[in-house]
Amino acid sequence: MTVSAPVGASPPVPQKVAAPLTRAAIFLVVTVNPGAANAATVKSFCADLGGLLRAVGFRDLEGKLSCVMGFGSDLWDRLFPPPRPAELHPFREIRAGARHAVATQGDLLFHIRAMRMDLCFELATQVMARLGPAVAPVYEVQGFQYFDDRDLLGFVDGTENPVDQAAIDATVIGAEDAAFAGGSYVIVQKYLHDMAAWNALSTEAQERIIGRTKLADIELDESTKPTNAHSALTVIEEGGKEIKIVRANMPFGHVGQGEFGTYFIGYARSPRTIEQMLTNMFVGRPPGNYDRLLDFSRAVTGNLFFVPSSTFLQDVTADPPAIDPPANGAPGGPDAPIEAPPAKTPQLTPSTRQGSLGIGSLKGDLQA
Ligand code: HEM
Repeated sequence: MTVSAPVGASPPVPQKVAAPLTRAAIFLVVTVNPGAANAATVKSFCADLGGLLRAVGFRDLEGKLSCVMGFGSDLWDRLFPPPRPAELHPFREIRAGARHAVATQGDLLFHIRAMRMDLCFELATQVMARLGPAVAPVYEVQGFQYFDDRDLLGFVDGTENPVDQAAIDATVIGAEDAAFAGGSYVIVQKYLHDMAAWNALSTEAQERIIGRTKLADIELDESTKPTNAHSALTVIEEGGKEIKIVRANMPFGHVGQGEFGTYFIGYARSPRTIEQMLTNMFVGRPPGNYDRLLDFSRAVTGNLFFVPSSTFLQDVTADPPAIDPPANGAPGGPDAPIEAPPAKTPQLTPSTRQGSLGIGSLKGDLQA
């Protein structure tokens, strides 16, 4: 299904990819279990997300609840017939020296943001209750605002993000892939920091790694900023014009377990921009002149998702109820063992297992 608007029709409404930074976020990545019935559950969920968002978000409008839903490359092909988003592919891992941008599992991303964690938590609960055993969780990261939008390394993170129309221009697909106009690409990576090693550096050494001052967040001038500073390697130019992305990174951690991390999340209208930044960081520009942030930060996950427009999601029609035929060797199948083990699916607690929310039609606009 595509959303290219006929002449005179309103353009597709993007999901809220360029929403401003919030105090709290949940990043939820799941895989969709095999079988047509599970794929059908996900398809029937797509049009309901807007209603869930309105139901939870209306409980505190000041809370600015938003949710972006993204699809991995393999899942896209399972759910939707061609055409497919022009630049959607699995995350491409990078290995260079001791540095490794790993590629990890994940079919769906839910990027849930709000000014209060309880709103994020409630929406994530409702999403998982609705998807039920159709999906298996890969990970959930709860991010929090740390003082004045700092990462746990102590630097303000997000300063150079484009805002307003520039943020839309940087993230929302237009005529270059008209069938998927209003969509975006998102790359996510979970990084863990070696805080002891980082804190052993002088503030000046840390500033040269990031390329900005720590306290006042001022960019180092060209004469003092090294060419391998993080904020130098992540500047991408094409034809003399800077190509921006929109980041919504969040700190996370578990103090008791000594886990201190940054969840990197970057939206762009082409994944190439973020992939080039990753190459510059991990391999170096030129090769070898890599990002020293990576001597203190290790990527433990990596995914690329396509984020269709909100209009696309609302128009997804559920498949007719699917009953998967018993597979070879499965119970009831041609080569069924005498005592087949039961299929292992994640179980939800009774309180989250609700068939209906009783809130009427769930169709609606994700921007609500
Ligand atoms: C360990 C993970 C990361 C941390 C702690 C981190 C932190 C920062 C900080 C402190 C800044 C400077 C302030 C700002 O403009 O936001 C920055 C800038 C930036 N980062 Fe990262 N970052 C991380 C990973 C990444 C990754 C993986 C990418 C892209 C693939 C990226 C892309 C950028 C970009 C585009 C800028 C703005 C550069 C400019 O225009 O000056 N960052 N980051």
